[in-house]
Amino acid sequence: MANILILNGAPRKNGSTASLVKAFSEGATASGNEVREAYIHGMDIKNCLGCDACMKTNAGCVQKDEGMANIYGDLTWCDTVVFASPVHFGYLTAQLKAVIDRMWAWFNLPGNFGAKRKTVLISTSRGGDYKAILQQYGVYAMLGWEDLGHILGAGKEAEARELGKSIG
Ligand SMILES: Cc1cc2nc3c(=O)[nH]c(=O)nc-3n(C[C@H](O)[C@H](O)[C@H](O)COP(=O)(O)O)c2cc1C
Repeated sequence: MANILILNGAPRKNGSTASLVKAFSEGATASGNEVREAYIHGMDIKNCLGCDACMKTNAGCVQKDEGMANIYGDLTWCDTVVFASPVHFGYLTAQLKAVIDRMWAWFNLPGNFGAKRKTVLISTSRGGDYKAILQQYGVYAMLGWEDLGHILGAGKEAEARELGKSIG
């Protein structure tokens, strides 16, 4: 069974992205996986300073914000990471991008750079163009993380539930 971390970058707690996340999570839990969800909006998470201290010291991020500290812990705990976000002007939301940038410090902790994780992408949009989002998400392929699938489009709760069930 898998430990699944959902990084939910949707600002709207009851929007269409949240609805897909809920369905995915129900499916994953039903098949015995453990699921933790970080609802990023409103969490204490600062933007990356780009200071490179994490690269120089391998001691993590110099910023000690509680929200990101929890996510760092969950990144170590999990074996599967779900990136969930509506499309905002073509891309992932600023909330989720901030977390992705801050993950750089986690990768720079000893032993984490080669760490393997599986990934899922969940996104919704009005126009149906996910090109840029898929490109952002593709960063994880470069890190050697394994893509388990995408749910792209509001209303695909049944698909999201099935994908959740298939994990683990
Ligand atoms: C600031 C903002 C920017 C958006 N930009 C796009 C966009 O570039 N392309 C698109 O198809 N939809 C865009 N949308 C629409 C949302 O992606 C769409 O309504 C989405 O399903 C909302 O998800 P939610 O219900 O989880 O908030 C935008 C919405 C907002 C609020």
